[in-house]
Amino acid sequence: MKIDRIYIASDHAGFGLKERVKGFLSEKFSVIDLGCDDEKISVDYPDFAHKMAENLVNDSDFGILICGTGIGISIAANRHKNVRCALCHDISTAKLAREHNNANVIAFGARMLGEVVVFDMLNAFFGTNFAGGRHQNRVEKINQKEQK
Ligand code: RB5
Repeated sequence: MKIDRIYIASDHAGFGLKERVKGFLSEKFSVIDLGCDDEKISVDYPDFAHKMAENLVNDSDFGILICGTGIGISIAANRHKNVRCALCHDISTAKLAREHNNANVIAFGARMLGEVVVFDMLNAFFGTNFAGGRHQNRVEKINQKEQK
């Protein structure tokens, strides 16, 4: 899979892990930090989810979002049609998010997970291609919901 840029963003709860993830990925990828910039200043996770969505313009752009649980920031990111954000907890969910859902953003909770599993999840996510086939139509249907 072609990966041109990986954008990363977090709220204050995810700041420390964001910094460590940047260090982990920077050797292999071009990683662009969209903030936040300080763990001591409380910020609102939707602001960073929306900023991520604004930056994902190409199929070769990917994203990482981190908050305390990963829940709020992933919910907010998935309001955007160009985002398929998967909140992952382990290597299997990280791999399947790519293989079945063609996720372009991975989210996780800094307060929920240790650094080792996060790094393993990132290897799984960025090392797995979308399987296509029967999953293609399902992914296309995500944005084809009927208006009620
Ligand atoms: C911040 O305290 C916390 O609510 C946030 O990081 C996140 O866990 C929300 O889903």
